[in-house]
Amino acid sequence: MSGEPTNHVSRETPRAVSRETSSGTRGTDGAADPYGYSPMTTDDTPIGAAAQRASEVLHPGGVSLPKPTRRRVLTIANQKGGVGKTTTAVNLAAALALQGLSVLVVDLDPQGNASTALGADHTSGTPSSYELLLGEITASEAIQRNPKNPRLMCIPATIDLAGAEIELVSMVAREGRLKTALADSALDGLGIDFVLIDCPPSLGLLTVNAMVAASEVLIPIQCEYYALEGVGQLLRNIELVQAHLNPALHVSTVILTMYDGRTKLADQVADEVRGHFGSAVLKSVIPRSVKVSEAPGYGMTVLDYDPGSRGAMSYLDAGREMAARAAASDGREVEA
Ligand SMILES: Nc1ncnc2c1ncn2[C@@H]1O[C@H](COP(=O)(O)OP(=O)(O)O)[C@@H](O)[C@H]1O
Ligand SMILES: [Mg+2]
Repeated sequence: MSGEPTNHVSRETPRAVSRETSSGTRGTDGAADPYGYSPMTTDDTPIGAAAQRASEVLHPGGVSLPKPTRRRVLTIANQKGGVGKTTTAVNLAAALALQGLSVLVVDLDPQGNASTALGADHTSGTPSSYELLLGEITASEAIQRNPKNPRLMCIPATIDLAGAEIELVSMVAREGRLKTALADSALDGLGIDFVLIDCPPSLGLLTVNAMVAASEVLIPIQCEYYALEGVGQLLRNIELVQAHLNPALHVSTVILTMYDGRTKLADQVADEVRGHFGSAVLKSVIPRSVKVSEAPGYGMTVLDYDPGSRGAMSYLDAGREMAARAAASDGREVEA
């Protein structure tokens, strides 16, 4: 990719006293976490935390998260565009992989933004999620490993996927094709701990395939006006899939994105979402950060692009929190 900035510690230095940290990034509300997740002790010194995270990124292998009790397959869904689905898919995957877990991102959005951010080749004709859905190739044939971290894997999306929504309509078992392609037999040899499926901003057959292939839904919610707009419809669709196609499906995780600590609105939205989804909401909140939005332009996750930035730190925290939950439970008791 262009540019190739080398890893560097952030110029986006966390402020010593910031509402980002005090209102949730690190879960400082003092409540005992049912999943055994405990924020790091550098909580009071943001610069120390930044240095520690940067060091983790620059010297991977020093940290390791507990492996989940079984492979977790999460669909990242919200039919609203621009809420941070793709950003969350790639950065959460990178955070988990950096901390020792094996993670597969399945790009199911024809725009291929997750593939871009992970530096995966996704020109038309590259083995991708399209051929996977058609049953022409196996998952391992489509997987590309991240050059910097082989534990971070991606099945890319090419523009060929744009027609799949229509092509699938006439196919046999059209809703279950991704599930078949990601069956245990296809993934077991790869030692994958987490599969994160990045969905397009619609509730069509691609998203339904993702919801049938997963047992968990991760909903990113932007801390902005109309945050919950459309979430009702998403939840009804999840219920429909649950009733007819995949009884195991449930909302296990909600992540607040683009949190702007300077606004009252962000706190109001966060409170409302927590009131609605309870313990499914991660304590780690993703701040609005220029570094997060710049990283994909270099074919990078924010963890590679600027490991010491608040954005990178918050995704590392979210990854730690998710891994702690996954290791402590089978993920079924946190239904919304
Ligand atoms: N935490 C963040 N801070 C700043 N910009 C962000 C953040 N998360 C996402 N963005 C930007 O917002 C836009 C939409 O995010 P994206 O992840 O592509 O959403 P979706 O996949 O839901 O459509 C992108 O330009 C992305 O770079
Ligand atoms: Mg997207």
